Amino acid sequence: MKIAIIGEMHPDGWETLKKNDYKPYEITNFSKDNLKKELQDTDGIILRTAANLTSDVLKDCNNIKIIARHGVGYDNVDLEFLNKNKIALGITGTSNAVSVAEQVLTSFLFLTKNVNLSDQLTRRGDFKQKSSLPDFFELYKKNVVIFGFGRIGKEVAKRCLGFDTNVYVHDPFVNKSDIEKFNYKPIDKIEGIKFADYITIHLPLNEDTKNFIGAAEFSIMKNTAIIVNSARGGIVNEQALFDVLKSKKILGAALDVFEKEPPEKDNPLFDLPNILLSPHNAALTLECRKRMAIESAENIINFLNNKEKLNRDNIVNRKIFNF
Ligand SMILES: NC(=O)c1ccc[n+]([C@@H]2O[C@H](COP(=O)([O-])OP(=O)(O)OC[C@H]3O[C@@H](n4cnc5c(N)ncnc54)[C@H](O)[C@@H]3O)[C@@H](O)[C@H]2O)c1
Repeated sequence: MKIAIIGEMHPDGWETLKKNDYKPYEITNFSKDNLKKELQDTDGIILRTAANLTSDVLKDCNNIKIIARHGVGYDNVDLEFLNKNKIALGITGTSNAVSVAEQVLTSFLFLTKNVNLSDQLTRRGDFKQKSSLPDFFELYKKNVVIFGFGRIGKEVAKRCLGFDTNVYVHDPFVNKSDIEKFNYKPIDKIEGIKFADYITIHLPLNEDTKNFIGAAEFSIMKNTAIIVNSARGGIVNEQALFDVLKSKKILGAALDVFEKEPPEKDNPLFDLPNILLSPHNAALTLECRKRMAIESAENIINFLNNKEKLNRDNIVNRKIFNF
């Protein structure tokens, strides 16, 4: 069977497909016309974030049975179309939570420890001027508020306990007892925003979570607050974020994801010193790229040929297949 790889994939994923007699091929031109042409007779697709699989592209895929996201977010796939046409949607649910969680802790520490400024000062030979650096801070005993207690939120929470922080969780879809049993405290959205020294977002992007943090939410944050969004662009409103960082109403922010990806070169956030930016690569450690490549290939193989071995939690729309 033919499997299209949309975007680059680690060789271990290719190997997994080939040794199971699948024929993987890579698509590098993501224009709608090219996707339509190259996907016409494919049986499965492994999809990174670079292309959008709209109903217009998918309606010409005559053999398609499964789309396996190389990752967990699927806002670049038309799920309604997949459901209507009984096409499965896979995600790599066990692969990337740890790497994103490590990136969140990296961002917290980077933004409070003057890492860049200390390094520059030392290289300049200004060692004795260390007291000229801005204050820096600890995580110890601070309030970390985690929005979304799913795969990534849980891994972040675990690591925050290791730093002796107070961990608060806002996720109305999770039982309070499932939060409390780990010594985290459930918290209401507004209380959490007021109370937080560190905020980290681990929500899906949908109609309810778009602009989840906007001007109103920023206006009630502590002026020492740090916010990290490694979930999806648009959950934190970029204009409102720019305004509070520019006027120093909060201490700092980190964004791995943007409202428009890639962002425009003249995105005003790029000129601010109190934000740490990265190109949607929180999950892309070498270890994680390997895990995602293998897990997305296995989702396809097991869905098509070996349902007993399939990790059913990895199939988003499993209900339409009655499992
Ligand atoms: N930056 C990256 O490279 C990267 C990598 C992986 C995942 N992500 C993104 O991170 C986000 C989280 O991924 P995950 O695997 O933890 O997802 P998940 O589905 O395991 O967890 C999401 C959690 O959010 C909760 N939630 C949903 N709506 C909510 C709301 N309105 N208020 C509060 N909680 C709500 C759900 O109950 C769930 O527990 C997703 O947006 C995903 O696309 C980004």
